[in-house]
Amino acid sequence: MAATPDHQSMDLPVIDLDVYLNQPRDSPAVQAECEKAAQALITYGALVLHDSRVSEDDNSTFLDLLEDYFAQPEADLRRDERPELSYQIGVTLENTEKPKCAVDEPCLDVISRLQPDQRPLDISAHSPDPKCRFFWRMVEQPPYKTDFPGLNAPNLIPEAPHIKERWPTTMDQWGKSMKEAVSKLAEMTAVGLGLPAEHFSDAGRYGPHLLAPTASDLEKYGEKDTILAGFHTDLNFLTIHGRSRYPGLHIWARNTGNRIPVKIPPGNYLLVQAGKQIEHITGGLIKAGYHEVVVNEKTIETIEKRRAANPDRPLIRISSTLFWHLNSDFDLAPIPALADKARQVRAAQFNLGRDEGNAVEYPPMKVGKQVEG
Ligand SMILES: [Fe+2]
Repeated sequence: MAATPDHQSMDLPVIDLDVYLNQPRDSPAVQAECEKAAQALITYGALVLHDSRVSEDDNSTFLDLLEDYFAQPEADLRRDERPELSYQIGVTLENTEKPKCAVDEPCLDVISRLQPDQRPLDISAHSPDPKCRFFWRMVEQPPYKTDFPGLNAPNLIPEAPHIKERWPTTMDQWGKSMKEAVSKLAEMTAVGLGLPAEHFSDAGRYGPHLLAPTASDLEKYGEKDTILAGFHTDLNFLTIHGRSRYPGLHIWARNTGNRIPVKIPPGNYLLVQAGKQIEHITGGLIKAGYHEVVVNEKTIETIEKRRAANPDRPLIRISSTLFWHLNSDFDLAPIPALADKARQVRAAQFNLGRDEGNAVEYPPMKVGKQVEG
């Protein structure tokens, strides 16, 4: 059933982290909420998370800062590029990141299996994404010797005086809120899958988590159907997003293959999406969720409203994103009971007329290797 733009509903389950935090872990309410979380990730690859500890003001402060930052002249932004560190900290300017999916066989197969009216905007001719990104690491150094030392370089703080002084506290404050929310959701997911609560959160304690906001200049790229980030999945375990000021994020539900325009309710709500690491460890029971960011009708309406209401503010779409990873040294392999269940879900999908294509192999490997691809 095709929804008209005005009646697009977002039927993602809302999971209440407060229930998990405030009630005994073995209570029926907590068990039910955890099962709901796991089931949401199995069915949709995504969910909306409610967490009273998260402050909408912190998200706004963060979005204001990032708008100011990316509104700087290009020459100033270039000072924050670190190509010699493979852009793993600091800024990546637009048209640098290429969407892998445009040339990736399994990904093109996924697109071909979607109903034509539910497909993403055509990425085959899509050049690199017209978005900029900033990487701010949110990492706790492991107390053990790691095979993947990664970067020892400290986080980079921009130089402009009107940005510099607000930067570390704002980035850390919002990054910490999202990181705590997503690691608690990892606990709920483990419980919902019948695992010990800390199974995933311990495995991710020393992960190379990244606060990774992106910025799209809507003055330049504000035309309808512009692809800001082409159709893809994320490599990490779970990705968490705060509310963006502009619509445009579409996700694909595994159960129906339908495109869902994301609407995060105002207040203490976040969006969580499954990445490749949770797909791997669950043997495909939870699949990494496909998504794209585009300029749709709602984006354009919001641009017009924002232009009128805040004429002095930069017209830049910031996505408030944190990538939560498992530890690089963690041995990634499907948990047998979950892999069994994955086969059942696949068969059930097939019987419903949803052929998911070739079965994916999940060979055992270190997380650090998986990330390197
Ligand atoms: Fe992504």
